[in-house]
Amino acid sequence: MSNALNTLLHNSRPQHLQQLKDLLTIASISAKAEHNADTAHCADFVADALRSAGLHTEVIPTPGHPVVYAEWLGAPDAPTVLIYGHYDVQPVEPLEEWRNPPFSPTIEGDNIVARGATDDKGQMFAHVLAAHALMSVDGKLPCNVKFIIEGEEEIGSPNLDPFLRDHRDRLAADVVLISDTSMWSPGRPGVTVGLRGLTYVEIHVQGATHDLHSGLYGGGVANPINALSRIIAGLHNPDGSVAVPGFYDNVQPLTAEERAEFAALGHDEAQFRAEIGVAESPGEAGYTVLERITARPTLDCNGIWGGYTGEGAKTVLPASAHAKVSCRLVANQTSEEIEAKLRNHVLANLPAGVTARVELHHGAPAFLADRAVPTMIAATNALKTVWGVDPVFMRSGGSIPVVASFKSELGLDSILMGFGLADDRAHSPNEKFSITSFYQGIEASAQFMLELSKLPKK
Ligand code: BES
Ligand code: MN
Ligand code: MN
Repeated sequence: MSNALNTLLHNSRPQHLQQLKDLLTIASISAKAEHNADTAHCADFVADALRSAGLHTEVIPTPGHPVVYAEWLGAPDAPTVLIYGHYDVQPVEPLEEWRNPPFSPTIEGDNIVARGATDDKGQMFAHVLAAHALMSVDGKLPCNVKFIIEGEEEIGSPNLDPFLRDHRDRLAADVVLISDTSMWSPGRPGVTVGLRGLTYVEIHVQGATHDLHSGLYGGGVANPINALSRIIAGLHNPDGSVAVPGFYDNVQPLTAEERAEFAALGHDEAQFRAEIGVAESPGEAGYTVLERITARPTLDCNGIWGGYTGEGAKTVLPASAHAKVSCRLVANQTSEEIEAKLRNHVLANLPAGVTARVELHHGAPAFLADRAVPTMIAATNALKTVWGVDPVFMRSGGSIPVVASFKSELGLDSILMGFGLADDRAHSPNEKFSITSFYQGIEASAQFMLELSKLPKK
């Protein structure tokens, strides 16, 4: 990186932080229609930033929230990077647990605390600011750059696959770069080479046609909450494995080499437990915590409701009960397969007197990166330059469905260069992002573009 760029990036830090603060004041909660105006405003904010960086920028409508697309294609002999990120955020509940309001970004030491700070506004915006800085210093970028910043990632990207198909030619690139994951630890960067997939369903259990007096009917009719509890309790075996028949049939087993690579990362299980305030960390027998949270498939109940949950007591025998259940998938499980196996298991083990429906919310396959692609070197070099140490290859248990779509729809490999930290509280109250990571992320993005320009165009 040139001295001029280095100096500019350092001198711009207060202004970059202010711009991030402004972005974090926008309540772009994609799941909530009452925030549609905020979400649209957020797309415009990101578009304005890209436009002022000197990129040709469009806010492209979809049936849902718009996609922000921008491009600078002034380096015909250099490769093209397609930078993906998302400007939408998760809902903020429970509000009372936030130290400050979620859209009033607050500086606490080295952290900026706000919804979206790490997931994904802070990480995504690092790339926007890097492009701006490079353009200001040189009047051009070292390689061709395209941005696709969507507003529906947190609701499963329902309109993105058609968008990719409709804009296939425009989105042509040599590689996709995504910062929507974590580093290995503070001071230790990482490239995420594995993500888990997802199958998200709702289970609806129905008993009588209407709620009943539990004194007059209790004992004479099935209780859907009791039935649903039995169903959920039956989803795991005593050894912590998932009890759905065939769940592990297609799972690609971990090789000895993979397990040795995980072990070498030195995951601290005691620290893992301390950070989240638990004394034990049970799970599938025979695997380390790191393996269980990143490389093994899981099943969890995410929400459960039914009956009376208001103030006081109501002696009611509910007519229905409901649960949200999700599975994290690994290669080579498919969402379709797991959905069918889960549904069959629930229906085959239904307690007497109730009926049930299992409805799919959304699904996505797991991702395993090809580490041998030449563009991977651009990422590892960039991270090493900025952090001064070699990055590690790591897996994450989270899901970014579009990564599989980039491969299947556009034939593109993705490089996941995350700037978050494991304790950033993504999706939780008091979500944060390290301000140091933010500045280093801007540098790493600029450095990646410089490194990419050294590679031959595809
Ligand atoms: N950025 C996260 C996923 C993530 C976080 C991956 C940290 C690796 C490390 C993304 O915004 C997310 O939350 N994805 C959802 C899935 C989506 C379909 C709602 C998830 O993983 O639950
Ligand atoms: Mn994200
Ligand atoms: Mn998220």
